Amino acid sequence: MEQIVYTHSPAVRAFLAKEIGMLVNGRLIAAESGKRFETCDPADGKRLTTVPQAAASDIDLAAKAAHAAFHGEWGSMLPATRGNLLWRLADLVEQNADQLAELESIDNGKPAAFARAVDVQWAIDHLRYFAGWPTKIDGENLPVSQPDMHVYTRKQPVGVVGAIIPWNFPLLMCVWKLAPALAAGCTVVVKPAEQTPLTALRLGELVIEAGFPAGVVNICTGFGEEAGAALVGHPLIDKIAFTGSTAVGREIARRAADDIKHVSLELGGKSPNIVLPDADISRAAAGAAQAIFYETGQVCSAGSRLLVHRSILEPMIEALKAEVAKINPGRGTNAATTMGPLVSKEQHDRVKKYVEIGRNQGAEIVCGGRPIDGDLASGFFFEPTILLNVPDDATVCQEEIFGPVLVVQVYDDLDELIRRANASEYGLAAGVWTRDLSNAHKLAAALDAGSVWVNCYNSFDPSTPFGGFKKSGYGRDGGRAALDKFMHTKSVWMNLA
Ligand code: NAI
Ligand code: MG
Repeated sequence: MEQIVYTHSPAVRAFLAKEIGMLVNGRLIAAESGKRFETCDPADGKRLTTVPQAAASDIDLAAKAAHAAFHGEWGSMLPATRGNLLWRLADLVEQNADQLAELESIDNGKPAAFARAVDVQWAIDHLRYFAGWPTKIDGENLPVSQPDMHVYTRKQPVGVVGAIIPWNFPLLMCVWKLAPALAAGCTVVVKPAEQTPLTALRLGELVIEAGFPAGVVNICTGFGEEAGAALVGHPLIDKIAFTGSTAVGREIARRAADDIKHVSLELGGKSPNIVLPDADISRAAAGAAQAIFYETGQVCSAGSRLLVHRSILEPMIEALKAEVAKINPGRGTNAATTMGPLVSKEQHDRVKKYVEIGRNQGAEIVCGGRPIDGDLASGFFFEPTILLNVPDDATVCQEEIFGPVLVVQVYDDLDELIRRANASEYGLAAGVWTRDLSNAHKLAAALDAGSVWVNCYNSFDPSTPFGGFKKSGYGRDGGRAALDKFMHTKSVWMNLA
């Protein structure tokens, strides 16, 4: 396939050409050491630019600034003013939406049109939803059974939040942490993923433009073991909000235990997507393909296990193959592209290795299974892949691959289905395709998953909580639940006697 030669838009060129700074205490600065690191375009592996490499001393500056802001101007700011600032930030993200979408596309690889419609649009919507909350956070009057006692609760921000962000939805995940934390009255130090630092750094510029007081939002780019670990260990950080791998999440929770820091974890998944025998097959196949191949499979809630009733296996596989044939892999900034590369060489190697393991454990490769060569060979592209006839305990049925690899499992009855769907250490999401209402509700109740999608998949809204059961983590993004995780409940006892 021929690739259109692509040049960056003037707005993106200008951003990449300057010495990009990170946001600390209201200013865009370099790392104290002066060190910078490269970020590359996964569509061709070429360097885009360099960004500041924060170390422990930079995190210390940012945490102190956030602490001072929390106890200063931000702490005493009126709720309506806090809400207005969030709304103003949403407006600025909207005004710069095309530039942000293009930056996301070249840094992460995803199609720019998807980045505009999903990552950037959902970030705007999320900021606006949470802009409404500061004026609606209230407490309760409690009917205690004691004479002359007036008891009420107050919701108060937990303090300084350390937000650690993954590379699959870099801007959106940053906003998922920032918006509710700021709405709750916290201040924040963000550590973006080292693979995709650009949109968070651009957001830092917009935070200044929006007029947030210095230190309320700090955005420090750097590596996990250096800047990330420093954030988790910093004594002025009261809470860590993390999205990423289960291995790192476990380590963060362990380290945070030393200081009894609050922790919320959005981790991996191996989510079952279930097709009942009565389902509309073409709709289910389109939904199943979308569930695993969107964002090249690099979605925590990806429907990576497709459980199909034996009676419809053959038409389902045919319909899935037809869906795969429609996928157009390519550079994300090419308008015709519907699937970008994987984010990095590391992720590409990981996906390749998993497919090899699947092959060795007896999987039948229905389609795909190899890196894409030809014009795309210099990027981290991988074919949309479907594996069949893999035992439930095989590695590819149990471990998160985080790539465009679907494992198809065949079942015969509902009880067996529920048992096998739940036979995973993860519990992030699940999909159900059926026209049978009672089975849909039975499954919605029985599945170990923080989100269940019936006749849809990967639906999100700022109002709706999202998070895991089991090793997919704890705490929720989205909605009132996200706000609550950034607040203490204080009980006040007034003796009126
Ligand atoms: P990761 O968990 O290492 O990275 C996520 C974030 O954690 C990044 O900002 C990273 O710098 C930071 N981090 C890494 N080590 C840290 C430490 N010791 N202390 C504090 N922060 C630290 O994920 P990675 O290695 O990039 O990807 C590996 C696998 O993780 C993927 O194949 C996928 O299975 C899973 N993953 C899941 C995500 C999700 O959305 N739930 C997102 C990204 C990865
Ligand atoms: Mg990059």
